[in-house]
Amino acid sequence: MHDEVLNIKNEAIARIMEARDLDELAEIKIGYLGRKGKITLLFRDLKNIPNEKRREIGNKINDSKKAIELTLSKKGEELTNTSLKNKSDIDLTIPGIIPNIGHLHPQTIVLNEILEIFNHLGYQVADGPEIEKDYYNFEVLNFPDDHPARDAQQTMFIDVANTKYKLGELIPRTHTSAMQGRVMEKTTPPFRVIVPGRCFRYEQVDASHGVEFWQVEGFVVDKQIHLTDLFGTIEFVLKSLFGQSTKIKFATTFFPFVEPGVDAYIECTVCNGRGCSFCKKSGWSEIMPAGMIHPNVLKHSKIDSSKWSGFAFAMGLSRVVTLKYKIEDLRVLHTPDYQILKQF
Ligand code: PHE
Repeated sequence: MHDEVLNIKNEAIARIMEARDLDELAEIKIGYLGRKGKITLLFRDLKNIPNEKRREIGNKINDSKKAIELTLSKKGEELTNTSLKNKSDIDLTIPGIIPNIGHLHPQTIVLNEILEIFNHLGYQVADGPEIEKDYYNFEVLNFPDDHPARDAQQTMFIDVANTKYKLGELIPRTHTSAMQGRVMEKTTPPFRVIVPGRCFRYEQVDASHGVEFWQVEGFVVDKQIHLTDLFGTIEFVLKSLFGQSTKIKFATTFFPFVEPGVDAYIECTVCNGRGCSFCKKSGWSEIMPAGMIHPNVLKHSKIDSSKWSGFAFAMGLSRVVTLKYKIEDLRVLHTPDYQILKQF
């Protein structure tokens, strides 16, 4: 009887260890501990054991039963874990869900394109303050105090109470031309510079104007710079941006810091020249105000205007973006709505 108990126990444990799944384990359990299980039958047979041995054998069967139960529960746990793992195994053939990671803002895309074009032409990039001194925004650029040309800049003012500045001495810059003086007083010619940056004006907001907008200013100072160099540069830049067949025209204009002043227009891309609300029914869109740098600007910055000359130009960045993507209202560019922006 003693050996029989031991054999049954060993046999049971060996079978449990080799069980491949939970069903097999359940079968083994019934086979040993069930109503007609081998261990259960051993208990039943106890009554045939002589009294003096019964207690000892009884204890042996009990120990075997406990050992079998423990092995069963350990193996059960192990099999449950592996079956769960198998269930969560990833099916690598199922197509994944593409996460929404967004993309560059259309204005950034176009700015990068512009920077690349000017990089190709040998321009350096300069960055400057958005809150600017009246001196750089106006004075150095040949806008004397009280000159009516200041009106066209629709300047916003900053509260300077409790600062060392007088009202109007410090302003949100109205144009990136404010960087001309800063670069000129620190750099000896020749140089070619572009200045991308945010500007501010007290504007009536509409489809083609905003109070806050980006300009990309450019200026060149060198020997023998002529108006034709300016025309050539503008044509090269606009055709690189809008395509070789782009129609361009020039008209004269006035800014105190250029002489002569010119305005470059391209045929409106929104209506292909037919006239729409974006181009105010003219078929043309003003895109690049420019001109030959006024000798007074060079003189202010201590550059000898008898030796050096230059040209300057600016582009309204959102104007370029709207014309490139044929967006009729530039306010669209300032919406945080991804559904709208992801189209570009
Ligand atoms: N700074 C001018 C403006 O924003 C544009 C301009 C730049 C004109 C350079 C001529 C030369 O009004």
